[in-house]
Amino acid sequence: MRYLVTGGAGFIGSNFIRYIFNKYGADAQVVNLDKLTYAGIRENLAEYEGSKNYRFVHGDIATPEDVAEAYKGVDGSGVDVVVNFAAETHVDRSLMEAGTFIQTDVHGVLVLLEEARKNAPNLRRFIQISTDEVYGSIDQGSFTESDPLNPRNPYSASKAGGDRMAYAYAQTYGMPVVVTRASNNFGPYQYPEKLIPLFVTNAIDDQPLPLYGDGKNIRDWLFVDDHCAAIDFLIENGSNSETYNIGGGNERENREITQKILQIVGKPDSLIKRVSDRQGHDRRYSIDTAKLNNLGFRWTTDFDDALERTVRWYVANEPWWRAIKERSAEYKAFYAKQYANR
Ligand code: NAD
Ligand code: DAU
Repeated sequence: MRYLVTGGAGFIGSNFIRYIFNKYGADAQVVNLDKLTYAGIRENLAEYEGSKNYRFVHGDIATPEDVAEAYKGVDGSGVDVVVNFAAETHVDRSLMEAGTFIQTDVHGVLVLLEEARKNAPNLRRFIQISTDEVYGSIDQGSFTESDPLNPRNPYSASKAGGDRMAYAYAQTYGMPVVVTRASNNFGPYQYPEKLIPLFVTNAIDDQPLPLYGDGKNIRDWLFVDDHCAAIDFLIENGSNSETYNIGGGNERENREITQKILQIVGKPDSLIKRVSDRQGHDRRYSIDTAKLNNLGFRWTTDFDDALERTVRWYVANEPWWRAIKERSAEYKAFYAKQYANR
């Protein structure tokens, strides 16, 4: 299979490309189109650079010429499948500046779809990676795919735009689109601005863990390999125009996750620092995964085991996150602004 993966230098995209090469080996060809924003780290996939089955294209999904170049594939023969991970992804950043979210998460999706019509008329599958955040917050019960969308922050509103744009191209032009809405991922190579990698790396350094509000917000945690397996499954088994929730079945309050991290790292609870709440902070995300499970997809990862392995990965890979936290001027500027507001 010939894949075009966008945003493959980021967290889930790099794990997905590794998953595909581990599973399909030389039968897979992957073009990775990535803009290398602050969140894109090309070295995440250093082991594939120079391979004849892998090609990195430095470009923007919102720029038609970059996208047309990527649609040529690894060897000029084209692509069969697109998996669009490329996005601005951090809610806190969308509260500071939302324009880039609209540009990439909405307009970028439009450009990818338009260029597919021109450059890849025989595409087998276009996977639009959306998010459970598009449903908004739910106090009890779980959202199904047919529930109305109610995004409540600029990030999730942008993702909802891209999600429905992909659907519109399936309906209007018959494109083989599948939309996936996953819950909170965790695992190796996650940028240390998101809850788990930020708290693990702060704990290692005896720095405070800034827990927002009362710490009782609930997220459903999905190990990144399980997410990759579900996407791979849906490339083959999903139906055109359909949307599938991908949840982890691991709903936890943030304060519980925080305590588990401290236990694994072996640091005291006194590192927890309550800070003022995120503006418009969604209380609970919960999605029903029956539609995916009814197709036959199951995952077996144990949450506690995966969290422990994830924490150990950050302990063992200090140079990876120190390069960001200590040497990225952009990272330092973001946190200076973030805590000026709290
Ligand atoms: P990430 O922030 O780690 O990586 C995003 C990647 O996209 C980076 O490599 C960045 O350089 C690239 N990128 C950004 N703008 C681009 C552009 N205009 N053109 C090309 N590349 C661009 O993100 P992630 O956490 O890996 O999320 C990947 C996708 O999964 C996103 O679409 C996100 O909305 C979705 N998602 C994430 C989660 C999660 O918990 N992380 C859960 C559900 C859905
Ligand atoms: O639900 C899927 C979404 O999960 C994805 O679509 C997003 O791209 C991804 O960033 C994530 O969004 P969240 O806002 O849920 O993730 P984040 O890691 O930023 O926060 C998780 C929870 O932890 C949330 O309730 C806010 C809280 N939090 C987060 C940070 C960064 C804190 O208490 N302190 C923090 O410093």
